[in-house]
Amino acid sequence: MRIAILSDIHANLEALQAVLGAIAEEGVDRLVCLGDIVGYNTDPGACVALLRDAGALCVAGNHDRAVTRQIGMDGFSARAIRAVFWTRRHLAPDDTAWLSALPLKAAVEGQLVAVHGALHPDIGCELVRLDGDGERRLSFAALAAHPSGARVCAYGHTHRLGVHEYRDGAILAPILAHDGDEVALRPGSYYLVNPGTVGEPRTAERRATFMLLDTARQTLSVRRVAYDDTLAFAKTRRAGIEPRRLAGLPAPLRAAIKAGLRRVGLYEVLLKAFNS
Ligand SMILES: [Fe+2]
Repeated sequence: MRIAILSDIHANLEALQAVLGAIAEEGVDRLVCLGDIVGYNTDPGACVALLRDAGALCVAGNHDRAVTRQIGMDGFSARAIRAVFWTRRHLAPDDTAWLSALPLKAAVEGQLVAVHGALHPDIGCELVRLDGDGERRLSFAALAAHPSGARVCAYGHTHRLGVHEYRDGAILAPILAHDGDEVALRPGSYYLVNPGTVGEPRTAERRATFMLLDTARQTLSVRRVAYDDTLAFAKTRRAGIEPRRLAGLPAPLRAAIKAGLRRVGLYEVLLKAFNS
């Protein structure tokens, strides 16, 4: 069985369409979405519809649950909060109901466990960031004890692509996987894998990412998909979700400033600081 794993779409329709196109070319058996289907961008209904129509197995992310009022917005950036309010106003009631009904954890035939944030704890797992070995150890313990018998847990939330292996009681150094790389899953190991983000990149790498799990061959592959992100950006600006700090400047100058900041590694730092 070949399973496509994607996460953190964040209502970016152009990115999701590009990824689904790439997945169609791969020929997969299952589609698994790790949540944060909505938030930040302005096409939540269209993204929900695409995933529903594709029969994707979806879990809820923290942005999905904030939109549906199942959790509060503690820790959300100003931009994230603007997007939640905008999404609540624009998402159709049946799409909101569909989001509300998503589980926090799901499994694929004993091969894969899907979560948004972490496999632990029982309550609030969609808010946990698996970005350190302390938290990873707790989720590896939950995976080893999981009734599905799966050895792979896919998570999102951090928007950072990652493959982590637990073997003989130790968390090994992260496996570096680049576009097209195929990681061989070893018998006896457990894995926490993050496919990165479809629609809300937070690094200089702007392409959408997803992963392919081949359960017969026991391999995991990384895929990156280029798409035109200017459309989504223009829509968020029109909707008032995007901050307008550079809005008074001519577009070429704005683009040059951003490109320069990205080149010296400052864009992400400033983005984080302004949006925290
Ligand atoms: Fe997210």
